[in-house]
Amino acid sequence: MKINDIYNLMLKMGMESDFRGKDGVQKVLDKKRKKFEKMSDEEKQDFDEEALENPYLDSGIYNISDDREIRKVLVGIDITPSEILLAKQLGNIDLVIAHHPVGKGLAQLADVMDLQTDVYNYYGVPINVAEGLMKERISEVARGVNASNHQRTVDAAKLIGINLMNSHTPCDNLAAKFLKDFVEEKKPETVGDLISALKEIPEYKEAMKIGAGPKIFVGSPENRCGKIAIAEITGGTEGSPKLYEKMAQVGIGTVVGMHISEEHKKEAETANVNIVIAGHISSDSLGVNLLMDELEKQGIEIVPCSGFTRFSRVSK
Ligand SMILES: [Fe+2]
Repeated sequence: MKINDIYNLMLKMGMESDFRGKDGVQKVLDKKRKKFEKMSDEEKQDFDEEALENPYLDSGIYNISDDREIRKVLVGIDITPSEILLAKQLGNIDLVIAHHPVGKGLAQLADVMDLQTDVYNYYGVPINVAEGLMKERISEVARGVNASNHQRTVDAAKLIGINLMNSHTPCDNLAAKFLKDFVEEKKPETVGDLISALKEIPEYKEAMKIGAGPKIFVGSPENRCGKIAIAEITGGTEGSPKLYEKMAQVGIGTVVGMHISEEHKKEAETANVNIVIAGHISSDSLGVNLLMDELEKQGIEIVPCSGFTRFSRVSK
């Protein structure tokens, strides 16, 4: 596999596990193309044409110094110049794969958040309500990442000649789909049952050893789950805190998320929605593992770093 093959595989797997369905994602791409075609030549010059093919602009390729066959990858949750140096030091690393966005992926993080609007809609929140509340939050996130030093890691990779890419939302989609299927199969009755079930997943079991396992942030173990929504695993970052009240109104009893701010927690409490936080880096690891399994099947060696816990689900 070459770097572009991994990139294409990532997009394919991301789209196949997307809450919007493959057709739903294609619709988003088609809309972008229509917009692009109507642009003036000047506007087209400033437009990133990757957006016409890649529905996950928080994920991509940032540096190809040597387009060689990929045999060994260094994979981490956060890749900084330190991990780039680590790749050089380890030697024989053909490609570094980050989970969290770097470079233009970080600058465009807010672009993937429309996905959340559809996730809330999938769970019953009217589309006009989800759109209205998410619009506000998306612009807030776009302003938030604006100040970052986006190119820092990319510059290090270019200087030292290390191939670099990342996979954020495609992996988060894989984690969300996995958890959705898992919860539907386990059908936990209480929040305590849900926590126990999640602890069976190796990534969460491992996180428990360092005190970062699944936790109840709102609610208590004996609370009944009601309808469980995997609403806060994919779609960039946290959605709008005002959505908990709406979710309660459409019959959602429990939300499983990766992480939650204090403001979001308070709103969930007011709305009586149970919140189970599966864990941030462990949930990220779960999604990355599902992509890495496909690389392993192609004979690629995976070297985990930067918080990534590798668990293979490839039958041997
Ligand atoms: Fe994350």
